[in-house]
Amino acid sequence: MSVPEHIAIIMDGNGRWAKKRGLPRNAGHTAGAKNVEDICVAAKKLGVKYLTLYALSTENWSRPEAEVRALMRLLSGYLDKAIKTAHENRMHIRVIGDITRLEPKFQRQIIEAERVSSVYDELNLTIAINYGSRDELVRAVRRVGADIKAGTLAPEAVSEELFAGYLDTRELPDPDLLIRTSGEQRLSNYLLWQLAYSEFYFAQVPWPDFDEAQLVRAIDAYENRDRRYGGIREE
Ligand code: FPP
Repeated sequence: MSVPEHIAIIMDGNGRWAKKRGLPRNAGHTAGAKNVEDICVAAKKLGVKYLTLYALSTENWSRPEAEVRALMRLLSGYLDKAIKTAHENRMHIRVIGDITRLEPKFQRQIIEAERVSSVYDELNLTIAINYGSRDELVRAVRRVGADIKAGTLAPEAVSEELFAGYLDTRELPDPDLLIRTSGEQRLSNYLLWQLAYSEFYFAQVPWPDFDEAQLVRAIDAYENRDRRYGGIREE
């Protein structure tokens, strides 16, 4: 089996990483954002085509306001840099999630980063911001309903494939591998539809410590698994 084409990651453990060092939680997020850059480079080098990262969930709004603001600042700073380095990195950036709740300036920045990077596809980086899988599914169902009501879609025409085209991830293949760092083994409302057949890998280290060697270990574990899709094993 070869390198997974698409890896989805739940970047957990920034807070614990910071606490262990006696630092504020936001220092953990800053280290986590820096690690995103390193992992993008490593993923591209290893031949991964799609990387989809969970940066801010619909549930994260319940965190202290200062922490949410700091996360937004980090994401905004990251996108700002990405707009400037798009050519050099040849990376297509996409954002999934309901961005309508974000500051208008931040929304414009997202649209701009997606636009300037859309000509590239050496690595496809998708960042989930204000993302929740159930929310994504509900938004998709609403759009399907609207098209049926408008008479442009027949209910019988709704298939798994067609429905996937209404999701935020419509331009992406399903992930082959999901990685969650920091020892937790939960999906936390991430890509519930898209992860139906993916392999799961749980790393013990917190996200800021998840380096290239850790990524290689996750890919090795993936390559050694026997993916059966409920079918008969190929001899
Ligand atoms: C989970 O750690 C992590 C997050 C909620 C945020 C992830 C965000 C980043 C890594 C920064 C920016 C991202 C990009 C794409 C530039 P936690 O705070 O839940 O950690 P804990 O469980 O140890 O408290």
